[in-house]
Amino acid sequence: MLISGTGTNLQALIDAPDIDVCCVVSSRAGAAGLERAVRAGIPATATADEDETVAVLEAHGAELIVLAGYMRILSAAFVGRWSGRILNVHPALLPAFPGARAVEDALAHGVKVTGVTVHLVDAEHVTADTGPIVMQEAMAVSYDDTAAEVTERLHRIEHRLLPEAVRLYGAGRIHVDGRRVRVSG
Ligand code: GAR
Repeated sequence: MLISGTGTNLQALIDAPDIDVCCVVSSRAGAAGLERAVRAGIPATATADEDETVAVLEAHGAELIVLAGYMRILSAAFVGRWSGRILNVHPALLPAFPGARAVEDALAHGVKVTGVTVHLVDAEHVTADTGPIVMQEAMAVSYDDTAAEVTERLHRIEHRLLPEAVRLYGAGRIHVDGRRVRVSG
C-alpha cells in the first residue's frame, strides 16, 4: 500500500480480516499512516524514491498496489510494471475534480452531489486521477457543509468501498474492457 498521510484507508484495510496488507510505503516520513502500519506489525518504509518503492513492493511480493492519498505521480514504467494491478481511491466522482484538492474544488464549484471513486491506475496516472472506474458511490452535499464535514463523510464511504474493491480484485471479478470495467459475479 502506498500512502502519504493519515492512512485512514490503510487502517480500513488493516481492519479487514480477509485482506493482507504485505507492506506500506509512505512518500512522507512522519506520516501518521506509518504509525498505523507499525502498530499492526506491517513492514513500513518511508521513501519518496520510486526505485526504492519498487524494491520494497517486490521484496514483499505485493500482488496488488493500493494507493490511498499517495501524493506522488508514478512513472509510466511503474504503472506498466503493475499494469491492471494498481487501485486508487479518490474523493470525488471522477472524471470530475481530479487532483489533490478534490473536496475543496467540488465545493467551490457548488456541486450538490459528490462521492468516491475507486479506479484502476493506467499510464495516464502520470498526470491525473484517471483509469478505468471500478466502483463509485455518490453523496449529497448541502450549501452549509464544510470541507472538513464532507471529507469526513467521504472517508466513511472510502473505508467501505476500498476494501470491497480489493476483495473484488482478489476474487478475480474485475474485468477491464477499454475504459470500462465489468464486475463479474
Ligand atoms: C483520501 O480521502 C483519498 O481519497 C485522497 O486522499 C485521502 C487520504 O486519506 N486521495 C486523493 O485525493 C487522490 N487524488 P487517508 O490518508 O486517511 O487514507
